Amino acid sequence: MAVREVLRMGHPVLAQVAQPVEDFGPELEALLADMKDTMAAEDGAGLAAPQIGVSRRVVIFGVAKNPRYPDAEEVPFTVLVNPVITFLSQEGEDGWEGCLSVPGLRGVVRRCVKLRYTGFDEKGRPIDRVAEGFHARVVQHECDHLDGILYPMRMHDMSLFGFTDVLFPDMDPRQED
Ligand code: NI
Repeated sequence: MAVREVLRMGHPVLAQVAQPVEDFGPELEALLADMKDTMAAEDGAGLAAPQIGVSRRVVIFGVAKNPRYPDAEEVPFTVLVNPVITFLSQEGEDGWEGCLSVPGLRGVVRRCVKLRYTGFDEKGRPIDRVAEGFHARVVQHECDHLDGILYPMRMHDMSLFGFTDVLFPDMDPRQED
């Protein structure tokens, strides 16, 4: 188990379409241990395997009460392997996002407000959930990483893109991203 370096925007692995996991064995277990350590160390809302240089379809996410997202609902800690998203609403909602691979910046992204996600947990047991609001946003952000998409590529108004400490001067600087 180790805290791994988080790759930053521009690294080619972040632009790749990641490969499905076929074996729920020790290799996946080791990857998830590193991902959990890294997400905890960086205090992130989620992390995708490509962000630590592993081009596999694995994401983790979860938000306890976090001062970084004062309006955010809690999101249960989830390991999601080979995810599939089905959108359940035509409605989009704008919201601020940050990303550990785009440090120091925030931007407004429009995301679908309600979706279903399926996939597998770390033991290969099926997951099938409906999510709304912030939970749905986090799932969309993390799963985008598996298709080589970073949130700035989803933005429709670049005037709503800036440095976190300039946009939100009152935010605790430890909560950079
Ligand atoms: Ni991200």
